[in-house]
Amino acid sequence: MNSQRVGRNTSLSSIFRHLVNDHLIIRLATRKDAEAIALESMAEIEHNLEWSWHPLRVGRAIDDPNTNVVVAVGGNGMLGFGIMEYEEEVAHLVLFGVREDMRRRGIGSALLAWLEKVASVAGVGRLRVEARRTNAGARAFYRRHGYVESEIVPAMYLSTEDGVRFEKAVAAMKET
Ligand SMILES: CC(C)(COP(=O)(O)OP(=O)(O)OC[C@H]1O[C@@H](n2cnc3c(N)ncnc32)[C@H](O)[C@@H]1OP(=O)(O)O)[C@@H](O)C(=O)NCCC(=O)NCCS
Repeated sequence: MNSQRVGRNTSLSSIFRHLVNDHLIIRLATRKDAEAIALESMAEIEHNLEWSWHPLRVGRAIDDPNTNVVVAVGGNGMLGFGIMEYEEEVAHLVLFGVREDMRRRGIGSALLAWLEKVASVAGVGRLRVEARRTNAGARAFYRRHGYVESEIVPAMYLSTEDGVRFEKAVAAMKET
């Protein structure tokens, strides 16, 4: 895949920066967002794991032309975020979360729709994401959006906790 097609410096970036409603904006992250994303990841996603998405790593992802880091922002600051890496055929959602007090309001769905739309325009065939096997909320969320559990990965997290891998064909996006 031509990474420039999803690079944050291309005109695609402005096409997909959109106002979801009066209170929620979805936009590409800047370096200023890195710390908030990293802290949210530590608290809400990587709890009980070694903190790997520290601010420097998030910052590198923001700078990477083959990765999109997107944030949902409201009057109340950053409400959610997603990090998607693009390979030849697969777009991999590597980090995704919504602030705990703002869940079940459609913010995760709006972020995912943004990322899926970019992946579709970029021409990848499949979307992939993993979650902890015990994360019933995330599993329900991805199933709700047409993702299929493709495999259980034993000891995916810190060699102790199983993961679940989800996949979705981009062609299936029109159906969800
Ligand atoms: C998974 C997550 C991103 C969902 O974000 P969200 O903004 O709450 O999702 P939405 O409001 O768009 O939910 C859309 C639908 O997904 C399903 N869903 C979402 N969270 C769910 C939950 N906890 N239990 C059951 N179904 C759920 C529902 O069908 C929901 O629609 P409904 O609210 O009308 O019933 C959020 O719960 C989260 O950040 N969890 C912690 C981090 C995490 O697990 N990240 C993903 C794995 S790395």
